[in-house]
Amino acid sequence: MKNEPIISIKNLWKAFGKNKVLKGVNLAVNKGEGLVILGRSGSGKSVTIKCLVGLVEADKGEIKVFGTDITKLKNNVLNPIRMRIGFMFQNGALYDSMSVRQNLAFTLKHHTRDLSDEEIEKQIIEALENVGLKEAIDKMPAELSGGMRKRIGLARTLIIKPEIILYDEPTSGLDTITSREISELILSVQKKYKTTSIIITHDMDCAKKTGDRIMILKDGIIYAEGNYDELEKSTDEWVRSFFI
Ligand SMILES: Nc1ncnc2c1ncn2[C@@H]1O[C@H](COP(=O)(O)OP(=O)(O)OP(=O)(O)O)[C@@H](O)[C@H]1O
Ligand SMILES: [Mg+2]
Repeated sequence: MKNEPIISIKNLWKAFGKNKVLKGVNLAVNKGEGLVILGRSGSGKSVTIKCLVGLVEADKGEIKVFGTDITKLKNNVLNPIRMRIGFMFQNGALYDSMSVRQNLAFTLKHHTRDLSDEEIEKQIIEALENVGLKEAIDKMPAELSGGMRKRIGLARTLIIKPEIILYDEPTSGLDTITSREISELILSVQKKYKTTSIIITHDMDCAKKTGDRIMILKDGIIYAEGNYDELEKSTDEWVRSFFI
């Protein structure tokens, strides 16, 4: 179907022991769209996107990605789908013992076998150019600032040319100006590669820039949904509290 959402989550439930985190989450993301998920710390934002890539197993519900329900898939069927999804982790650790070039090459080789050394180098440079950090190619992660690490993390996500990118707090721990630069980078990636994105953030400037739509998670469900302007004007005090 042409207009089928690229990501569709229906009635998603997840508990860890007695801790009921997700209690019927419903959301859909269309191709090329940027969806922002807001919510207090511990509300289940990270768990939701981990369910999307099968890093956390759902208790109940349907999770369709590219039209396929991934909840019942075995790893060998799930892996090719995962390959089409980029994940920028909250604590997006690079391998500390590898240079930037080696980190990117490692990811690329794992994703696409049989690339020539020339092709690998070309793609590493393209990914670094996309994040404006070509000069960092020979640096070790320990030599990078927080903002640079985030950019390299993004380059590593981009190098596999994902159709979907899931960003878990891409600007956390950064100063206002660096955060703004990362948000702009996310937006430029969305435009250049027409990726579909889910962006989890506490940074309202990032939400405003990167979100075509915003959803707020509360008590295990999507409590509110709309674009930035709509939610900012919400009559619900709790929703508005995010925008102050
Ligand atoms: N692997 C796990 N095992 C047990 N509990 C978990 C696990 N992962 C998450 N949780 C719990 O699920 C709840 C939601 O966690 P999650 O990481 O999704 O929160 P979050 O909304 O991303 O918060 P933050 O904004 O702080 O990142 C928390 O209570 C957390 O302790
Ligand atoms: Mg989180």
